[in-house]
Amino acid sequence: MKNHISIPYDHYDSWRELSESDQVLVQKAYQIAETAYAPYSEFHVGSVVELMSGELVLGSNQENIAFPSGLCAERVALFYTGANFPQEVIKTLCVVAKGELLPVDKLLTPCGACRQVMLETEIRQNQTYRIMLISQNEQTVIFYSAKDLLPFAFGTV
Ligand code: THU
Repeated sequence: MKNHISIPYDHYDSWRELSESDQVLVQKAYQIAETAYAPYSEFHVGSVVELMSGELVLGSNQENIAFPSGLCAERVALFYTGANFPQEVIKTLCVVAKGELLPVDKLLTPCGACRQVMLETEIRQNQTYRIMLISQNEQTVIFYSAKDLLPFAFGTV
């Protein structure tokens, strides 16, 4: 029997159409992207974790001359959240990037390793959270669960 899956998401032509509080997440993500240490890729990624308490946890990508030792902005923010706010629930993860690695109209879609961490974070808190992805030309996509970005993940089917 053939089956199929469908993944719900919202699309906006610009993040400036979002609610004021969501626009703040995008602005904070662009601010923290300035702290990226990315001398090898020159791709500056900023990530904001919005907690239910209203607290914002910020991360940027941190590279290393031994390439696999570096870490993506998403995992910097998610692991910082796990370490410093272990009991808090995440409401939103917002990710932005600046750099020539991606054409301006391409969404910054997280790598596989980040999706795996995003998913386990969601399972751990037993509550879904929104994932807001922005392209350099301001297009915005919002997913409603980390599961939607990693269907058939190990141990979930
Ligand atoms: N990067 C992120 O921080 N997040 C992503 O979603 C994709 C890629 C970083 C890793 C590396 O420092 C640079 O961007 C180029 O891949």
